[in-house]
Amino acid sequence: MVSHYKKLILQAMGNYFGQDAKRIGHACKVLQYAEEILAKGSGDEEVVAAAAILHDIGIHEAERKYNSNAGEYQEIEGPPIANRILKKLDFPREKIDEVLEIIAHHHRPGIVKTQNFEIIFKADCRVNREEKRRKKHD
Ligand SMILES: [Fe+2]
Repeated sequence: MVSHYKKLILQAMGNYFGQDAKRIGHACKVLQYAEEILAKGSGDEEVVAAAAILHDIGIHEAERKYNSNAGEYQEIEGPPIANRILKKLDFPREKIDEVLEIIAHHHRPGIVKTQNFEIIFKADCRVNREEKRRKKHD
């Protein structure tokens, strides 16, 4: 039932970010790369999909509360929002903690030592690199 949750979480992320097409596009791209990496190795599809889609979900709250989108603030603000979204969608309870842990550390590799974390970290770095490159050429 991966696609079932994936679709619902994508919808919830889109609703949450609203007009912020940049963030929505970023999350979708990270999901795409994370799925590509996962297809070549091992990991939990549901955890990877949920974490990829929601990894930056705290960014609006970080900007609102601290006037900053710095990683440390996103990591504080993201997990409670992701928790609310996942619980509402009846995402498997036993996987929610892992998703939240990935979100809470997604800018700091080496703390969460799981395959699922590695996948999200790699996918996010790749998208960030591409976005930086594109900015330079704009
Ligand atoms: Fe990101």
